[in-house]
Amino acid sequence: MNKIIFKLNFALFVVLIFAITACNNSSTKSDKQPFTAVDVFQTQPRPANQTHVLELRADPIDTVRVAIIGLGMRGQGAVSRLSYIPETKIVALADVVPSNVEMAQNTLKEMGRPKADGYTDTEDWKEICKREDIDLVYICTHWDLHTPIAVYAMENGKHVASEVPAALTIEQAWQLVNTAEKTRKHMMMLENCNYDFFEMATLNMAQQGLFGEIVHAEGAYNHDLRFLLFDEKTGYWDMWRLKHNEKANGNLYPTHGLGPIAHALNIHRGDRMEYLVSVSSNQFGLTEYAKEKFGEDSEYAKKNYMKGDMSTTIIKTAKGKTMMIQHNITNPRPYSRIHMISGTKGFAQKWPLTGISLDPNGHSFLSEKSLDSLLSKYEHPIVKEVGEKARQVGGHGGMDFIMDYRLIYCLHNGLPLDQDVYDAAEWSSIIELSRVSVANQGMPVKIPDFTRGAWDELKTVKYYTK
Ligand SMILES: NC(=O)c1ccc[n+]([C@@H]2O[C@H](COP(=O)([O-])OP(=O)(O)OC[C@H]3O[C@@H](n4cnc5c(N)ncnc54)[C@H](O)[C@@H]3O)[C@@H](O)[C@H]2O)c1
Repeated sequence: MNKIIFKLNFALFVVLIFAITACNNSSTKSDKQPFTAVDVFQTQPRPANQTHVLELRADPIDTVRVAIIGLGMRGQGAVSRLSYIPETKIVALADVVPSNVEMAQNTLKEMGRPKADGYTDTEDWKEICKREDIDLVYICTHWDLHTPIAVYAMENGKHVASEVPAALTIEQAWQLVNTAEKTRKHMMMLENCNYDFFEMATLNMAQQGLFGEIVHAEGAYNHDLRFLLFDEKTGYWDMWRLKHNEKANGNLYPTHGLGPIAHALNIHRGDRMEYLVSVSSNQFGLTEYAKEKFGEDSEYAKKNYMKGDMSTTIIKTAKGKTMMIQHNITNPRPYSRIHMISGTKGFAQKWPLTGISLDPNGHSFLSEKSLDSLLSKYEHPIVKEVGEKARQVGGHGGMDFIMDYRLIYCLHNGLPLDQDVYDAAEWSSIIELSRVSVANQGMPVKIPDFTRGAWDELKTVKYYTK
């Protein structure tokens, strides 16, 4: 009897082991199904005789001679901020609206700076790029001109700083990378949000290991812009931003949210963004707003806006981290770039509620007093150096000035810039990649490696000082 029971038990044991093994095998199999993200935009081979421009250094420039192209809402601020930096001279100002050039000239005068040469024709930026007495072309036009001007300027031997986003398509992103590598000129996208005070402190914390291994991070551009989008008189020139909302659906403005967390995660300095999935809600906000403001039968209410109100993108990195990026400019909601960093040892978030929590008390945020002292302990050295002046000069509370200060500082001292052309290409590439994913029900899409294999050469993000 005992023997029979033993045999039965043994048989049961064998069946159980078999079942478990089969189960394990099937779960292993399904975990490793050969479904891979779709390589819609393959990484382009590097043209012959070209090398990467990671940590590019150019000859130091004593006084950086700047041309500012596009003098709308953003360009006017740039004229003022750059005028505070002694190592800068603004030599050319361009806008197709003559009164904008005049306004910028007035700013120079008020700042005690010499008058610049003014330009007002649509293609004058080409003349400007060809001038021999300009070091830096600083682009603040609407999106469509960013890449064409940047490429032309580098081809004509100029360094370039471009407002965000630097490129609208993957093809444009490659144009920027290829031209920067060919000409060995700096191409920096003016991602000012990397220089905000909390973002700089959390970068410092991340680099000093306060959050442990960063596992997940979030960023966004959630900013109700409906009033500006529809403002024909004092809003965007030629309604350019509304037009983009008419013709594309995806994350059209990813870089403010992505820039700071990409640096915290050392993207293309040891890790890289591998693939993304992106989903958009339908479009509701613009139509409803237009109906209420202009009437049911108005032209604006009848337009077909492609851009869904809320766009959400999730990115997976080669080292297994995730990032979530949102974009919503058409619903009434408090401003937020989220800026959240979550690691094995701690958590930080800026919006909607600013707080940091650390192991072993991860369940709750630090008290206000402890948060203040932590932020002051980890204040970024660059903010220590220039933060006070930045607060006085202003520009989104000071971050815009820190950005300009750093750009000129690095050019003046022949140092690598804080943001390189690969940052510009990678962060901007989310626009078209998310559009493709959205158009295909959130299909995973591979992110091209704009460094072409060099993403692991550097081990951390570095903001260089002398
Ligand atoms: N980093 C930030 O915080 C931030 C904030 C706002 C805007 N931006 C970016 O700045 C850029 C400009 O935005 P904005 O709000 O100033 O828009 P805007 O419409 O006020 O300014 C664009 C300007 O470009 C000019 N322009 C058009 N065609 C031109 C041409 N051929 N040559 C020269 N000038 C030309 C227009 O006349 C206008 O003055 C955009 O790329 C936007 O995304 C960035």
